[in-house]
Amino acid sequence: MPGMKVLIAYDSRKGTTRAVAERIALIAQGSTADVTVSHVGAISPSEAAGVDVLFLGAWTHGMFVIGVGPSGGAVQWASGLPSLDGTLGAVFCTYDLNPRGTLPALASLLRAKGALVAGSHASKRRNRLAGVDDFARDVMGQARRRSGERSSGDRALRP
Ligand SMILES: Cc1cc2nc3c(=O)[nH]c(=O)nc-3n(C[C@H](O)[C@H](O)[C@H](O)COP(=O)(O)O)c2cc1C
Repeated sequence: MPGMKVLIAYDSRKGTTRAVAERIALIAQGSTADVTVSHVGAISPSEAAGVDVLFLGAWTHGMFVIGVGPSGGAVQWASGLPSLDGTLGAVFCTYDLNPRGTLPALASLLRAKGALVAGSHASKRRNRLAGVDDFARDVMGQARRRSGERSSGDRALRP
């Protein structure tokens, strides 16, 4: 679906999560030319208004056993999101040992704004790109089917 708008917003300190985000962008570009990939510090959450697909990525922050969750920058950014009714969401994170509740916490942030969360993926830092292509392809496949259904619904409504 060429008109689909995709935003990949990520938080990253050392570049691991950025590398995953850029890989997701490459896969998403197979479905649409309208793909934006941005660090959360470089894009206002309000720019997520009206996107068809929002990928939100964080690095895992905590004390490995307790207090483990998404990095503060990602949480803060997601808390400022506008209504995401009609947006397909997907969440990803990177970690060293165990992401624990990081992905569910990111998913909850998107659901709280009305997004339908279609997928999640955690990448271990040392093998950051493993499984990323399949994750991104699966989400983009769901987005294409969804927008196909919508446009055929529109056609059906025409007299
Ligand atoms: C302050 C700090 C706390 C971290 N806490 C955890 C943790 O609780 N569990 C874990 O698996 N990784 C933890 N990590 C590892 C990072 O999540 C991991 O290295 C991540 O890939 C970094 O992403 P980035 O390169 O995009 O900044 C921590 C890293 C830092 C700097």
